[in-house]
Amino acid sequence: MASTKTNKSLLKERNKHIPQGPFNVHPIFAEKAKGAIITDVEGKEYIDFAGGIGVNNVGHCNEEVLKTVQDQIQKYIHTCFHVVMYEPYVELAKRLNEMTPGDFPKKTMFANSGAEGVENAIKIARHATGRPATIAFEDAFHGRTLLALSLTSKMKPYKLGFAPYAPEIYRMPYAYCYRCAFGLEYPSCEIRCAYFLKDFFHTHISSEQVAALIVEPVLGEGGFVVPPKEYFKVLYNICKDNGIVFIADEVQTGFGRTAKMFAMEHYEAEPDITVMAKSMADGFPLSAVTGKSDLMDHPQVGGLGGTYAGNPVACRAGLAVIEQFKKKNLLARGEKIGKKVMEKFKELQEHYEIIGDVRGLGAMVGMELVVDRKTKEPATAFTKQLVNCCRENGLLMISAGTHSNIIRPLMPLVITDEQLDRGLKIIEEGLDELS
Ligand SMILES: Cc1ncc(COP(=O)(O)O)c(C=O)c1O
Repeated sequence: MASTKTNKSLLKERNKHIPQGPFNVHPIFAEKAKGAIITDVEGKEYIDFAGGIGVNNVGHCNEEVLKTVQDQIQKYIHTCFHVVMYEPYVELAKRLNEMTPGDFPKKTMFANSGAEGVENAIKIARHATGRPATIAFEDAFHGRTLLALSLTSKMKPYKLGFAPYAPEIYRMPYAYCYRCAFGLEYPSCEIRCAYFLKDFFHTHISSEQVAALIVEPVLGEGGFVVPPKEYFKVLYNICKDNGIVFIADEVQTGFGRTAKMFAMEHYEAEPDITVMAKSMADGFPLSAVTGKSDLMDHPQVGGLGGTYAGNPVACRAGLAVIEQFKKKNLLARGEKIGKKVMEKFKELQEHYEIIGDVRGLGAMVGMELVVDRKTKEPATAFTKQLVNCCRENGLLMISAGTHSNIIRPLMPLVITDEQLDRGLKIIEEGLDELS
């Protein structure tokens, strides 16, 4: 049944009944969504370059996911894995153990969100090492629950007012080449930012105290920052030499976003633990922590879990998503999409001074907008205007970055060429209109 309400009337209700904290990028309400198109309650269609923040890589309401989920809900929806076990949990764990980077025996546990996955990974690392500390990075995003929030870097709006944060978290600069914390340039820098970890043990936290280092292979919320090829190998080896658990947060990069199933496959590093969520279940709340068996088995019976964690409907959706990647060859499609977006953004960069940097890996391509290419002052207000202008013209986008000045397309990988071209054209028209 189509809604009889308008965006405006629903927004009024939303403001009356829901606090401002849960933010909204666009003042519209969904009526339906299919593939890479969202239709709002007033019947207006939008090309979706947000994918529910990187959740819908296999497309909104993917037919095979729907069929699988419908089959599952006819059987049972919830028994709680800790009370009565079920096969979808075991089957998906087995698949993830096979698929994730790392040529060693693995085990997987499930949770409900990216943040919860991150929290469990840290718990496991602490338990296994008997050490308290975690090293995280500047511009990182790991979620909004207390430990995950403490690992997250951006102060406004995420952290402000929510202190005290979880203790024993230490933060070092990321390989953000466009804004190098060391004022160096790649490759002559010789990856100073990675070797800095060795100094860090002397100046911030002794290595013997560190349980884990958690890192995004490409910064998501931090602005689609892609480290140089050698970066993770260096970090990983230093962790290995010091008995530190190397955790890859693939919540945003995983499940095909970078044209590999996991972004760490682009780098010569095999994470001890990989955290996944977002696109793994096409919108059903599910996250996974996959890691070396001896690490994963360390916490005592009952030390890990949760009432809804690894819900059978979500696990079946996850299994269907994996099949969709194979059947539709979505990794190759992601490669093609990424190439096209990269070419277009580079072309736009030649015409529009405001585009300071274009970068990406696979279908994770972003452009950083700056007021001045020399000073690199973030063009935060312009970025917001561009996102709004694109919406008016039928394209849904979101921004990213500590200064919210990065355009980060996260379109479903099933987007058609026509939709992709149209979306890119709308961005070009928006830049033209606002410049
Ligand atoms: C890299 C990364 N980790 C963790 C999270 C938190 O995931 P969730 O919002 O599902 O808790 C996100 C969400 O954007 C993310 O991008």
